[in-house]
Amino acid sequence: MEIEVLGKLLSTLPADDDHPYRTGPWRPQTTEWKADDLTVVAGEIPADLDGVYLRNTENPLHPAVKNYHPFDGDGMVHVVGFRDGKAFYRNRFVRTDGMLAENEAQRPLWAGTAEMPDWAEREDGWGARRRMKDASSTDIVVHRGTALSSFWMCGDLYRLDPYSARTLGKESWNGAFPYHLGVSAHPKVDDRTGEMLFFNYGKEAPYMHYGVVDENNDLVHYVDIPLPGPRLPHDMAFTENYAILNDLPMFWDPELLEHNVHFPKFHRDTPSRFAVIPRRGQPSDIKWFEADPTYVLHFVNAYEVGEEIVLEGFYQGEPEPTADGITDKWQRAFRYLALDHFQSRLHRWRFDLRTGQTTEERLTDTITEFGMINGRHAGSKHRYVYAASGVDGWFLFNGLVRHDTETGAEESFHLGEGVFGSEASMAPRVGSTGEDDGYLITLTTDMNDDASYCVIFDAARVSDGPVCKLALPERISSGTHSTWAAGSELRRWRETDTAAEAVGL
Ligand SMILES: [Fe+2]
Repeated sequence: MEIEVLGKLLSTLPADDDHPYRTGPWRPQTTEWKADDLTVVAGEIPADLDGVYLRNTENPLHPAVKNYHPFDGDGMVHVVGFRDGKAFYRNRFVRTDGMLAENEAQRPLWAGTAEMPDWAEREDGWGARRRMKDASSTDIVVHRGTALSSFWMCGDLYRLDPYSARTLGKESWNGAFPYHLGVSAHPKVDDRTGEMLFFNYGKEAPYMHYGVVDENNDLVHYVDIPLPGPRLPHDMAFTENYAILNDLPMFWDPELLEHNVHFPKFHRDTPSRFAVIPRRGQPSDIKWFEADPTYVLHFVNAYEVGEEIVLEGFYQGEPEPTADGITDKWQRAFRYLALDHFQSRLHRWRFDLRTGQTTEERLTDTITEFGMINGRHAGSKHRYVYAASGVDGWFLFNGLVRHDTETGAEESFHLGEGVFGSEASMAPRVGSTGEDDGYLITLTTDMNDDASYCVIFDAARVSDGPVCKLALPERISSGTHSTWAAGSELRRWRETDTAAEAVGL
């Protein structure tokens, strides 16, 4: 492995830090690395793996004003690229306006998720709540050959080189980007049309918008999605002809909000509502469907069957987990982040466009979240979902579960004691045709080895364990969202083959 340090940023975090989401498996990094020809620790790099795995990470450089929440950390993107049986690695901070300003000041300037907005030193800021730092640390997708990082509470989309993770600037959509509201995490790329579908939300009516950016990077559609009040949507879904937005009964307590207190509350007696809108539809075209009250952090996919829309995602059995019985103060404080507390299970909603009726069913008793599919099936029928299992009480992932949504069969792999993974993306094998014909890629934080690895599984045989394990230059922080971009798709958008240059071919 050839390693080079590209940069190192100064951290002002305390040396005796005891915050569990800034220490242990969440210990942030300060170094940006360039590593070529990654060392194979076990197995071999599949020769039919061509593309990049990208993962975003909340990686704080400075303490919070008072209360750090893991969603506040500065964005760091990790890249592992593959071609011709070789692999390379890069990691870079996302140079957001907020991160650069705090780097200059060497202190926190904005108030985080678990803080009051008026604790912020700066009057300006981002986020549906306002006066937050846009850390761009939540999600990452690739559209038109460029990676775009995003922030869960709405912000700018930062353009990154998908091979180097170098920040290229903010996305402008040829001047039409809605900078005043920003865009939520989880924009959806439809590889078949080249479009990217997105939403944003805020505290002012109509409280949500939905839009479409086409393959020319033009904002070709942007409409109101009128909601009854401010909501906290996190994800959306799409089918071949429709987009699906949501109005879920987990939102800021309206009375507290009048005092500028942003406290999410689950309104148990209020139904969930899903907006089904033609992809280029107007607000008057929206069909609303009611369903059991819940909160959904992530949807897996949606598709059409005749006059029905089928939506799959993770239904939370307890969106507002009780603190009863939790003795650890940190586990109490962050119980909303633990899969076993909010009880997320794969779920299927069916919306009948003719009758307006919803039917829904739980697909499994197994608690998982962060489900991925073969991206070629996005918007059309899928069968397999590759999800993460969680560590009890903590926002950490300890394994992978492959759900067969047709038979209900499940295969799983436990990463081992003290080893934590992140969202595993599915990378179709070069030349593959079957949905399950590819690899699952994740990055691990291995506390036993004080190291991190890129671990690759055969998507069809998860329980067999990794087919390849590659060493990274240093132990990285646990993180969340990831994506896979095929090399052939990236090369379509580039004049030079930078992947080949990066691996020294
Ligand atoms: Fe998310």
